Parts: sequence; structure tokens; C-alpha cells
Amino acid sequence: MQRLFFYILLLCVFTNSAVFGAIYKGHRVYVHKCSTCHTDKEAFVKSKTIQQWEKLMLNHGEPLKKLHLKSKKAKKSWGYFNTPEYTKKSKHLREFLMEYAKDSGKIPAFN
Ligand code: HEC
Repeated sequence: MQRLFFYILLLCVFTNSAVFGAIYKGHRVYVHKCSTCHTDKEAFVKSKTIQQWEKLMLNHGEPLKKLHLKSKKAKKSWGYFNTPEYTKKSKHLREFLMEYAKDSGKIPAFN
């Protein structure tokens, strides 16, 4: 019984750090890849609700990618959105954006 409790505790710790890891990685993607254009970093994350970010990040971030590929003004981002790296890291970016969305009540730290 005690052992079971211990395993559950361990599992909680692991899942928690996995989520935190994703948010941290998403933060890095955001700072390096998005904030060059979306310079008002914090305000930009806060410009959308959890649900709006979730929609944009569906299917490994396909809607967000399309939105940029359609826009000539975003031309400089095409190279990035077309790489497998974007698709691979979209999960982390999604965690980050949803964690700090307008209705999340949380403030992201940028230094
Ligand atoms: C090269 C510059 C550039 C980069 C890099 C870039 N964007 Fe954009 N983004 C734009 C431009 C320009 C638009 C406006 C597109 C339009 O409406 O024509 C835009 C639009 C958007 C929108 C829609 C805005 C709205 O009000 O609905 C979101 C959301 C967004 N970008 C998120 C991101 C995220 C997240 C990243 C990082 C993965 C990113 N962008 C990287 C230039 C960029």
C-alpha cells in the first residue's frame, strides 16, 4: 500500500516536470523565433485566450503556420515555419502559449 502511494507520488513528480520542461522549451522557441517580429513579447502572448491559442496550434501548429505562409509581410518567417523543427517543437510552443494566455492569470518572465 505504502509502495503504491510512493509510485503515484513519483509519477506526479515526473509528469509535472515534463510539463514544465515543455513550457520552458516553448518559451525559448517563442523568444528566439517569434519575438523578433512580435516584439511586444508579453502583450502578444496575452493577446489571445487559451482557446484561441489552442486552435492556432492544432495539428502541430498547422493553422499558425498557414497564417504566416499566406502573408507576404511575414515572409521572413517562411523559412522557419517550413522546417521540421517548427513542427517538432510546436508542442512546446503550444504549452507555453496556453500557459500564459490572456485568461490564464499567469505572467511570463522575459529577461
Ligand atoms: C518574420 C516575422 C514573423 C515571425 C518570425 C513570426 N510572425 Fe507571427 N505574424 C507576422 C506577421 C507579419 C503577421 C500578420 C499576418 C497578416 O495578417 O498578414 C503575423 C501574425 C501572427 C498571428 C495572428 C495575429 C492575430 O492578431 O491574430 C499570430 C497568432 C502569430 N503571428 C504568432 C506567431 C508565433 C507564435 C510565432 C513564432 C513561432 C510567429 N508569429 C513568428 C510576422 C511574424
